Amino acid sequence: MSEPLVLVADDAGVRRLTVNRPDKLNALNAATLDALQAAFDDAARDPGVRVVVLTGAGPKAFVAGADIAEMADLRATDGRDFSLRGQRLMRTIETLPKPVIAMINGFALGGGLELAMGCHLRIAADSAKVGQPEINLGLIPGFGGSQRLLRLAGRSATLELCLLGAPVTAERALQLGIVTRVVPAAELDAETLKIATQLAASAPLALRATLDIVNIGGECGIEEGLQYESAQFGLMFATDDMREGTRAFMERRKPAFTGR
Ligand code: COA
Repeated sequence: MSEPLVLVADDAGVRRLTVNRPDKLNALNAATLDALQAAFDDAARDPGVRVVVLTGAGPKAFVAGADIAEMADLRATDGRDFSLRGQRLMRTIETLPKPVIAMINGFALGGGLELAMGCHLRIAADSAKVGQPEINLGLIPGFGGSQRLLRLAGRSATLELCLLGAPVTAERALQLGIVTRVVPAAELDAETLKIATQLAASAPLALRATLDIVNIGGECGIEEGLQYESAQFGLMFATDDMREGTRAFMERRKPAFTGR
């Protein structure tokens, strides 16, 4: 039997998903996009999953892009469908009701950076390189990269990365606001697990509301965004976790959140 395209491992509420095509630097072909879509749909549904960590197999790459060999012979309508398939996956990740951390262990190029930008937090090894090199293939980003990079890092960085097509170091990506944190490569796993473990013990409904208000508030006017924040804030008072969190503070103990 052939190796699965996405490896799945669970540990104490943390689901680790690993894109598993190391001989092709984890390039996203249609089958891998489908496997990731199924994996994220399942993580969204599974109440045992509190946080997802996404990474790439092998020592070199997170994901080195959409699969160039598979794209080479596509016609216009197939290209559009491929783009929509990738965009659907990134949107599923971005709107997942639980936090998703991209653990960037190497190249995150093209579709790889687009995949990482769909995630909520990006922890990069100091050896990682990120970029949108599609221009070098006579292409443009197709999995939402132009729009997410614009929102994360602004027009200047987006145009630099997409027009010039050259990858940047993890450190420069941090300066540009593309990644959340940069850590020494040897500590990437441990540092990511530390953050994932913290999130897995955090209040799931408040995490979900935070993701919602940032996703929705980031795309509407200030008045609507503030109203939405107040509505979600109010909703938290209907949760057991809010009572537990405030009581635990006053009783000087650690809260035990249940997601209710
Ligand atoms: N699509 C398909 N295959 C890819 C790929 C991609 N995006 N990126 C790497 N691969 C494959 C290579 O073809 C090679 O396969 P082979 O051994 O069967 O020939 C294998 O992965 C290893 O890659 P290689 O280029 O030999 O590694 P390298 O260390 O010399 O270079 C990169 C690493 C990332 C600089 C280089 O692979 C690269 O530029 N990849 C494409 C990046 C890109 O343009 N992404 C955007 C696509 S829209």
